[in-house]
Amino acid sequence: MLRRDFFKRTGQSLAALWALQTTIGRRANAATTQPHAGGANITVHDDAFWAQVRDAFPLTRKSTYLNTGGLGASPKVSIDELKNKIDEFEEVSKTGHTHQLWSEVKNKAGLILGCDADEIAYTRNTTEGASIICNGLRLQRGDEVITSTHEHVGNIVSWLARQKRDGIVVKTFTPSTRSAQENIERIAALITPKTRALSISHVTCATGQILPVKTIGELAAAHGIWYFVDGAQAPGMLPVDVRDIGCHAYATSGHKWLLGPKGTGLLYVRRDALNTIDPTYGGGYSANGHWDMISSGQFEWTSTAQRFEYGTVSAPLFAGLGASMQFLLDIGIDNIWRRNHALGAMLIKGLNELGAEVVSPQDKNEHSSIITFRLHNMPYGELQRFLTQHYQMRTRGIYEGGLDALRVSLHLYNSPAEVERVLEGVAAAKKL
Ligand SMILES: Cc1ncc(COP(=O)(O)O)c(C=O)c1O
Repeated sequence: MLRRDFFKRTGQSLAALWALQTTIGRRANAATTQPHAGGANITVHDDAFWAQVRDAFPLTRKSTYLNTGGLGASPKVSIDELKNKIDEFEEVSKTGHTHQLWSEVKNKAGLILGCDADEIAYTRNTTEGASIICNGLRLQRGDEVITSTHEHVGNIVSWLARQKRDGIVVKTFTPSTRSAQENIERIAALITPKTRALSISHVTCATGQILPVKTIGELAAAHGIWYFVDGAQAPGMLPVDVRDIGCHAYATSGHKWLLGPKGTGLLYVRRDALNTIDPTYGGGYSANGHWDMISSGQFEWTSTAQRFEYGTVSAPLFAGLGASMQFLLDIGIDNIWRRNHALGAMLIKGLNELGAEVVSPQDKNEHSSIITFRLHNMPYGELQRFLTQHYQMRTRGIYEGGLDALRVSLHLYNSPAEVERVLEGVAAAKKL
């Protein structure tokens, strides 16, 4: 799809424009084998284009939104799809659980994650995906699981609960923000004959560090270790290819970088790993309809990752997620990543110049568009309040790993001017 096709249709409202764009995009993506490529000729510095992307979001301009790592804002096209589907289904009171909707939305998710639609289950969030994996793995007392100290609580509590309940042993490493190789070495040093699983973030919530998930996958494979990746902070921000990573499972949230309705998530489970996870919950949609309650008690799970879904869900939420993913695919994940990465690099450079301590990695291959930093004259909570009160900014404090720092997340609706404003605010705080 050409750059000029995006917005230059004069006389149309943005909503209509995006609806049209979605239609064009759907056709383009049905045929493409390079789903991340998206719109051609879109450059990082095409500010007019990115300003029009910003216009597609009802997100208020009264404050600067810098917390996509917590929650992504939805584009109007996604909110409209959600509302329309609620209206459509409520008119006749139906769930809207149709094979067509499921496969349409999961096909888009497959393009974004790099897998087949039937390797994806809908969840409510990353936490649910991580919990399904943690609780479904057949682990015994004394079995060891490796994770990092920079994980989000959503990928910690279930493991700790199993440690308490089942006697598994959770072992941690603290990610080095200096080099990918150091992290491989730290993980390798924890592996013993009892190591059964590895559970780490693709992009950490604490510092936005992109962990070397492919090399970690090779290490896991070499030792026959089950490999789960928490992808809450990656899909939508940067290109993801779960097959290339080599993980058994990957969980993400629809409501962060994918910009979908709140309360949506995706869980990828590699086809050949399906039978290694016992679903925690079962019911409608998770079993294939053949069971014997009288004599054998036998039943069969659905043959796809749908076995991890159960009962009634809100179909409009997932329809909205489909529209958000299409929006991202139309722009092109590669284009979004180049833009996001450039914004992140700009912030790092400016913070260094100001003499702030950048806690995130500085290497261009390891930093993302989540940037965490500190000021030595001010605790992070105070800095956060200062930026909120005087600069109307939404950021997040980072207490994970005892970092005590402030996190700024930059996504496609943020601009270089907003990064400048962050720097202005930090410079003012530094003088206090
Ligand atoms: C790395 C990571 N994992 C898991 C989560 C939990 O996400 P959710 O609340 O959508 O389950 C987050 C949320 O910020 C996160 O950053």
